[in-house]
Amino acid sequence: MIKDIFINILSSSISVRFNDVERSILEYVKEVYKKYKSVSHGFDHVMRVYNLSVKIGVKENADINVLKIAALLHDVGRVLYGEREHALKSAKIAKELLSKMGLEKEFISRVVEAIKAHSFSGKERPVSIEAKVLSDADKLDAIGAIGIARCFMYAGEHKRSLEKSIEHFYEKLFLLKDLMYTKTAKEIAIQRHIFMEKYLQELKAELNMLK
Ligand code: NI
Repeated sequence: MIKDIFINILSSSISVRFNDVERSILEYVKEVYKKYKSVSHGFDHVMRVYNLSVKIGVKENADINVLKIAALLHDVGRVLYGEREHALKSAKIAKELLSKMGLEKEFISRVVEAIKAHSFSGKERPVSIEAKVLSDADKLDAIGAIGIARCFMYAGEHKRSLEKSIEHFYEKLFLLKDLMYTKTAKEIAIQRHIFMEKYLQELKAELNMLK
């Protein structure tokens, strides 16, 4: 029998029901993130991607169990081995962990495929619906009001200037709405994109006022 527990993630005010397999993975992920200094890619990002994946996945008829596990593990490689090629690193860790837990090979390979293809900078492109949903959820968390907040958190972490952060909107954030694979995510992305455009307009107006 699968025992559910209710975990309240205070940092992100998100409550989620987890089954036993998820719970073990969640414990592992939480442990990994304990040592991680980044706030822009912290554990609350993982939980938002998890929740977005489930929300989008239900509408897109994806396998929710594959999605949940993939979302929880999608960035562990970034935490343990750095940003570069982190999707491949996360996928490798997921494969080892899930194999150790004795999960079915087919299930593992679907989780691994989704994780491999989720990254903006990675070379792999998503094929399965689960991979597409995870990619969309991760990118949605980089845009809109949350995206703006994360952009400047990242700027603080890496001492990136305001000017450079504005460039980042044009180099990456404004491109993301056109990189959505699912219709559900695309709709959310358009709203978030419009808000970012408004924000940037205001930011530029305030900066121009000083010239
Ligand atoms: Ni991510």
